[in-house]
Amino acid sequence: MGTENLAPLRPGLENVPVAESAISFIDGKRARLEYRGIAAETLAKESNFEETTYLLWKGHLPSQKELLDFDAELRHHRRLKFKLLDLIKCLPETGHPMGALQASVAALGMFYPAKEVTNPQSNWESAVRILAKMPTVVAAFHRFRHGDEAITPRDDLDHAGNFYWMLFEKLPSPATRKLLDACLVLHAEHTMNASTFSARVTGSTLPDPYSVISSAIGTLYGPLHGGANEEALAMFEEIGDKSNVDSWFKETVAKKRKVMGFGHRVYKVKDPRATVLQDLAEKLFAEAGRPPLYDTALELERVANSVYGPKGIYPNVDYFSGLVYQALGIPTDLFTPIFAIARSAGWLAHWFEQLQNNRIFRPEQIYVGKRDQEYIPLAQRV
Ligand code: CMC
Repeated sequence: MGTENLAPLRPGLENVPVAESAISFIDGKRARLEYRGIAAETLAKESNFEETTYLLWKGHLPSQKELLDFDAELRHHRRLKFKLLDLIKCLPETGHPMGALQASVAALGMFYPAKEVTNPQSNWESAVRILAKMPTVVAAFHRFRHGDEAITPRDDLDHAGNFYWMLFEKLPSPATRKLLDACLVLHAEHTMNASTFSARVTGSTLPDPYSVISSAIGTLYGPLHGGANEEALAMFEEIGDKSNVDSWFKETVAKKRKVMGFGHRVYKVKDPRATVLQDLAEKLFAEAGRPPLYDTALELERVANSVYGPKGIYPNVDYFSGLVYQALGIPTDLFTPIFAIARSAGWLAHWFEQLQNNRIFRPEQIYVGKRDQEYIPLAQRV
């Protein structure tokens, strides 16, 4: 195709709409994130992950009965087939849990065939299965890699509490459970980010939802997206004491390295999720002790804001989330899988929406290569 009918190339599709969506909304100048019109911060404080997921999927808050039924469905589907557990056991323990999660979600699709995506009932059941089983997969991989048996999910615990139980075989304190639940709510959905777009692109070819979610998991893994929370913590560890911030930052700017957990395509102010997480983190630190790296993070934020603030580059959600998870005793390489456990709610909401008005994604390219070349037989090439 010639280039004459094409829109100008926008690297990274910046400001290019790819779908109409009624799921979430960001005002990047006013630090506002809404799920179905309700502020995400309010949901993080007042609601829980199960109710938020229902809201994202159905478009309205559930009645008491609807929430009880949905919650019961989720609890019912947490277990994994022993063959899937065996498969997870066989994965290399040194591999990243995001790889284990992606492989396991793809494999789930072989155990629960769901190719008939025109069937709303089967689509709903698949979505419930995926959301319910992802925490079990992550926890099982984590246990196996340490030589421990996987812990069976408990259906008397909520989503966040059960995940904590399956990781550590102990109950979280009410404050820890609330904090983990709020983290899930805050990461549940975020408009047309890279992994959501990936889910919609894959969904547009009409495969089963397990393929859709495993594709999105792969996209989330990268350090520019969900992987930034791990990188942010590694960065604080590299800096060490807050007295090192100034010299570290000067060197980082000179080397044109990015500050991880800073900057966002849409937010030009501090990410509202970062503000809520910071608030929750401070409450946790007041009880459990303040980690020295939090002071490093605060100092880096102060120093970096003075340089990047005028360019609209501020902390995003990943800046503080790693510190929160670390304070909860969660290992670093589980930070992004937790992001995926939460974001599966948003991905599946977008999958439902994509199916309502589907057209396969098939964008264009601007061809800049050679044309009309002759084939030279191998023997004649020099
Ligand atoms: N540190 C230093 N400079 C930055 C940063 C940063 N973290 N982020 C952006 N910039 C600069 C960048 O160098 C560029 O400067 P210039 O115009 O002088 O070349 C300008 O800002 C635009 O940056 P960009 O990378 O083209 O912006 P983008 O909208 O394509 O990327 C981003 C957004 C989030 C990928 C980017 O800000 C980044 O790489 N941040 C660090 C990784 C990170 O924290 N990612 C988590 C994102 S939020 C959670 C999620 O969605 O997963």
